[in-house]
Amino acid sequence: MTRTITIRRPDDWHLHLRDGAMMQAVLPETARTFGRAIVMPNLVPPVVTGAQAAAYRDRIMAALPDGMTFQPLMTLYLTEDTDPADVAQAHADGIATSVKLYPAGATTNSASGVRDFDKVRPVLEKMAEIGMPLCMHGEVTTSDVDIFDREAVFIETVLDPIRRATPGLRVVMEHTTTSHAADYVRANDQDLGATITTHHLIINRNHILVGGIKPHYYCLPVAKREEHRQALVAAATSGDARFFLGTDSAPHPDHLKEHACGCAGCFTATNTMPLLAHVFEEAGALDQLEAFASLNGPAFYRLPANDDTITLTKSDTATAFPAKIDCEAGPVTVFDPGFPVYWS
Ligand code: DOR
Ligand code: ZN
Repeated sequence: MTRTITIRRPDDWHLHLRDGAMMQAVLPETARTFGRAIVMPNLVPPVVTGAQAAAYRDRIMAALPDGMTFQPLMTLYLTEDTDPADVAQAHADGIATSVKLYPAGATTNSASGVRDFDKVRPVLEKMAEIGMPLCMHGEVTTSDVDIFDREAVFIETVLDPIRRATPGLRVVMEHTTTSHAADYVRANDQDLGATITTHHLIINRNHILVGGIKPHYYCLPVAKREEHRQALVAAATSGDARFFLGTDSAPHPDHLKEHACGCAGCFTATNTMPLLAHVFEEAGALDQLEAFASLNGPAFYRLPANDDTITLTKSDTATAFPAKIDCEAGPVTVFDPGFPVYWS
């Protein structure tokens, strides 16, 4: 028996497209399904200025295969030297949708991120004034904090103080991985939103470590205990408009994942929507998938939802997703949920 659902075309509110040959290989995987994406700026060198964001956007559009429509929403990488006037100009010109804050050292290419949060206060104040959202990688980086506690400590010691000091600042807590984050979002107002990835709705930390290390499940923030995964599923399927999809799909060639010091990132662009249909159906909440993937994100970013739709179909035979996407730098492994999925 087949079952179908039709929803507004989804958007991805947190995506890594990379650049050059890698971008050429992975962009169609997103553009095939998603209308828009918030594109992360952690290239080497990072996308810091409005001019760099405009040039990156043009490279993305040039790489888009004929016949595909897709709108990249650009972000600026916040450094301690970022000029508030440049940020405001890029926002006013429609070049930059948001600013991305990486605590220095938190993740891939975050070395130019923020060490001293006081140094970026003028930028944050300008953003509050013009209503420009701040996307936050919410982990502290000090070696005395256990990696599994870094998100919870960040909320208490960085995020909450910044929000109190900057009234009106609109913040997206990105790739939330804990019940602490879900609770913090629920306890706050409409100026705070949170993205949840596909993979954090599916794996917990056991999936990474039990029965041999699984480098393709390693990402940052790292997946937490099962109770946290369940809290994320509850938040995503609740219909609460502050939670929305940001896949954090982050391609790395296999030889850099399957490595003595493997890179962080799960590549989910190819199969996210079928996986989400599976997760939402299991939770008895297929009727909330459209809100999570297609409606809540645009509402937070004060943009219209997409006009067109996609249809997801469930059949009796498991869907065969490609195991890998070919790229010049080597194959990129597509996220394997570890269970059969009947949606496509
Ligand atoms: O797993 C991750 N990969 N988390 C991030 O924050 C960055 C990303 C990447 O760029 O590879
Ligand atoms: Zn990311």
